[in-house]
Formats: sequence, C-alpha cells, structure tokens
Amino acid sequence: MTTDLLALIARHVRDIADYPRPGVVFKDITPLLADPAGFAAVVKAIAGPLAGERIDLVAGLEARGFIFGAPVALELGAGFVPLRKAGKLPAATFAESYDLEYGTATVEVHADAISPGSRVLIVDDVLATGGTGRAAVDLVRRAGGTVVEFSVLMELGFLEGREKLSDVELRALTTV
Ligand code: PRP
Repeated sequence: MTTDLLALIARHVRDIADYPRPGVVFKDITPLLADPAGFAAVVKAIAGPLAGERIDLVAGLEARGFIFGAPVALELGAGFVPLRKAGKLPAATFAESYDLEYGTATVEVHADAISPGSRVLIVDDVLATGGTGRAAVDLVRRAGGTVVEFSVLMELGFLEGREKLSDVELRALTTV
C-alpha cells in the first residue's frame, strides 16, 4: 500500500474512545466519507488489485460494508449483494449466527442472491474479532458463492480476527 494512502486513512479515520462501550476505541470512518478524493482513493485501492479477475458480485456487510462495497462493485462491473442483520431482508434468506462479547448476532442473505459458482468479493470497513467476517464467508459459501477475497479498509491486528479467516484470502488496506 502506498504511504499516501496509509497517511490518508490515518488522517481520516478517527478514534472515538469508549464507544459503544467503556474501554472500546471505535474507528470512525465518517471523516473519510466526507472527503470525496479520499473516499474515491480507498474505493480504488480495494478494487484495483482485482481489476484483472472475474468478480461477479460484491457482498457488503451491514452497515459500513455497504458504503464501501457498492462503489467497489460499480468499479469492478459487478453486482452488489447486501449481507444484512437479522430480519431486514424481505424474501427467503440463509442465515449465519456468530458470537459477540455478550450474546450472538446473525447475518442474512437472500437465498436467491448468489448463483452457484458466482465469484464473490466480500467488503467491510473494519476487521476486529473476525466474527462478522467468518459468518459472512460461511454465508456466501452456503448460498453457493466462491469467496475470492475478504477485503477491509482496516484490520485491528491486536484482536487477531485474521485467525478466524485462515481459509480465506484476506486483504486489509491498513493494519493497526
Ligand atoms: C462493525 C464493523 C464490522 C464488524 C467487525 O460492525 O463494521 O462489520 O463490526 O467486528 P468483528 O470483526 O469483531 O466481528 P457493527 O457490528 O458495529 O455493525 P454496524 O456497521 O451496523 O454498526
């Protein structure tokens, strides 16, 4: 990754202490989204290395994975598939649950959204513990897709989420 892009991300992703709970430092991407040149650079950095590959669909994780995933899909000439939190999709779904610090969460995809053999890029903003990413990969595979790569803007290395995704090509623009 170029030093320019790393500096841009460092400048535009701000730390919010004690959100959503005491002791957690939240990575807030909203300053990046407000800078059109910065936002475009990040979209191009996610899509660029895949430009020569066949990508049929980009699957974005609710909610911030939608923001990056949709323009990446357009950049690659691929369709976009939302991976949504439970109860939000109107038609029949597949679902995958995963553990949170307290309790569980579920992500869903429309059962007819991914044709068998489709080559899918999964996009999200942050990889933290890896629970969301693991569920997303399992969900896309269950729906019939081949996961080409799981791509994130930022990986929180100290949480070791990567270990849950050892069977996936994982790419982070930056690791903190
Ligand atoms: C955040 C982030 C990732 C996920 C990463 O989403 O956008 O999707 O957490 O965490 P993990 O690697 O520990 O699973 P969040 O669940 O806050 O949902 P939101 O984007 O709807 O706010």
